[in-house]
Amino acid sequence: MEHRPVLVGPTVDLLAPALEDGGVFVDATLGRAGHAAAVLRRAPMATLVGIDRDPDALEESGKALAPFRDRVTLVRGRFAELAALLERLGAAPVRGVLFDLGVSSPQLDDPRRGFSFRGDGPLDMRMDPAQPASAEDIVNGYSENDLARVIGRLGEERFARRIAKAIIGARPVRGTAALAEVVRGAIPAATRRTGGHPARRTFQALRLEVNREIDELAAALPQAIDVLEPGCRVVAISYHSLEDRVVKRRFVEESRDCTCPPDFPVCTCGAHARIRVLVKRPIRPPEEEQASNPRSTAAKLRAAERLATGVSHGPS
Ligand SMILES: C[S@@+](CC[C@H](N)C(=O)[O-])C[C@H]1O[C@@H](n2cnc3c(N)ncnc32)[C@H](O)[C@@H]1O
Repeated sequence: MEHRPVLVGPTVDLLAPALEDGGVFVDATLGRAGHAAAVLRRAPMATLVGIDRDPDALEESGKALAPFRDRVTLVRGRFAELAALLERLGAAPVRGVLFDLGVSSPQLDDPRRGFSFRGDGPLDMRMDPAQPASAEDIVNGYSENDLARVIGRLGEERFARRIAKAIIGARPVRGTAALAEVVRGAIPAATRRTGGHPARRTFQALRLEVNREIDELAAALPQAIDVLEPGCRVVAISYHSLEDRVVKRRFVEESRDCTCPPDFPVCTCGAHARIRVLVKRPIRPPEEEQASNPRSTAAKLRAAERLATGVSHGPS
């Protein structure tokens, strides 16, 4: 299935004003370049640095962005290395950064990529095929405790322990269909009928673990703030509560002055707000978008604007 970008209107409305007179826009999750093309169309003086860790995404985006060729630089890399990638290109400071998190529809729909519990394919799930560890390494290599921890935390799956035990008992597990069947069998029959496909949460957990998605995001957000010019914006669209929590916390933290505990007599942290949060409650796709693009139903958009002043709060 072709990738339909989510919340394009609000994303462009938030990012385009700062790009009116030109400047660099960074799409840190280029995918199929739906958002990137929309921003370039609305801001005809702007240039794009498009980042993705998936070589297929870069190849396809290169074609989609052909009409803007002279304004586009595409880079293969992880957004946790955002500042270094931009420094190498001499592109910072920039006038907008977008994170549209997770996987794209073409990644999800191609059984050879192993992201989906529907159909059958290798247990891969690597966004970048050069990454050393695949989902199969985790499924067949992690201890029961580690599997239960990953599935419980990253999948928010209440039957994580039972699933981990079932996986250990079924090893070696080869292929997505085999794993989906093991998970289905581990979940009590009475609860299988609710909450979507029984393997959905386990597959999400494995995907997040394989690609270290939460760590990537936590590392990238402060860098995005570092590289922004004052008055310019970072937009993050997330698709599940773990990601959204990381974005929300980082934005709240970076928008506060001193973060010392309230009982400290004087400030020892020296922190000053670096951003202003633009949307207090996340923007959700309107009903029509949710109905026509099921991938959008869980989407939450948060945005913040760089202030002229501020001192980094460091890692959270
Ligand atoms: C939801 S898709 C983006 C879709 C895009 N906005 C569009 O309109 O087509 C997310 C993309 O981000 C990429 N990605 C996810 N995590 C990444 C990371 N840590 N570093 C670089 N790219 C990443 C994925 O490979 C995927 O292509």
